[in-house]
Amino acid sequence: MTSDKAISEHYLHGYLLQAIRASIKKLGKTIDNISIEDLAPVDEFHIGGRLATENLLNQLSFSEKHHILDVGCGLGGAARFVADKYNNHVTGIDLTEEYVEAGKSLCAWVNLDKKVFLQQGSATAMPFQDELFDGGYMLHVGMNIEDKELLFREIFRVLRQGSSFGVYDVMRINEGDLTYPVPWATEKSTSRLATPNQYRQALNDAGFEVSKENNRRDFALDFFRKVLEKTEASGGPPPLGLHTLMKESTSIKIKNMIGNITADYIAPVEIIAHKN
Ligand SMILES: C[S@@+](CC[C@H](N)C(=O)[O-])C[C@H]1O[C@@H](n2cnc3c(N)ncnc32)[C@H](O)[C@@H]1O
Repeated sequence: MTSDKAISEHYLHGYLLQAIRASIKKLGKTIDNISIEDLAPVDEFHIGGRLATENLLNQLSFSEKHHILDVGCGLGGAARFVADKYNNHVTGIDLTEEYVEAGKSLCAWVNLDKKVFLQQGSATAMPFQDELFDGGYMLHVGMNIEDKELLFREIFRVLRQGSSFGVYDVMRINEGDLTYPVPWATEKSTSRLATPNQYRQALNDAGFEVSKENNRRDFALDFFRKVLEKTEASGGPPPLGLHTLMKESTSIKIKNMIGNITADYIAPVEIIAHKN
């Protein structure tokens, strides 16, 4: 079993906040005028970034009155976007301390620190009371979590009746040897992929009702193609981007993702579930 420590070590950057500050300077901005749109290329760490978040949110019934849970929030980019869009409160939890600490600074820079609360912890044992949240989502997190049923039971516990919950994870579509490294794992032994059916089963067993499932393969390939085209046209990556997080391993991870998705071994998939 992959330990929580091994997962947060996989994501550990070492000097992430400094790297983001340096990139903001390169953008010609400061921490006083940086916007959530400027930060999106680095703080939405999933295939398709902000566009993918919006697509998932359009299928969930979040509103101004809701307190929303972001499971595995990373730097909290989606959490800030949700709090800003719905003018509500969002709590994010993530295993990687460095992401949470950097994320708190980002919340303060864009004046969302009274609406977005980020905290370190595990999604499989959350320090939250039962039925605290009115809805939630999880973006590219389950690939690190072996026991999906435990995960979804824990999420079910902290959601109120009537909540909708959106999953957008990379899932196993067909058998076949993946090429590593990929963004969530350096090698096979630390990857915890599951099929859409396994997700649905785990969600159902936890008490959720699943209403929708969308395979986002074409969207993903289009996203990666655009990232490569932009990088080539500008002679390198933009100041803020996925390379700010993944450093020198970025290009090999993107190349492997394109290969693995093109082979139809994996794809990002959305699943919409409800606690009725
Ligand atoms: C690919 S990143 C996605 C981050 C964020 N959801 C986003 O889309 O920007 C995966 C995140 O899942 C977190 N994670 C993995 N296993 C976790 C667990 N058991 N509990 C909480 N967070 C976890 C990692 O620390 C990492 O920040």
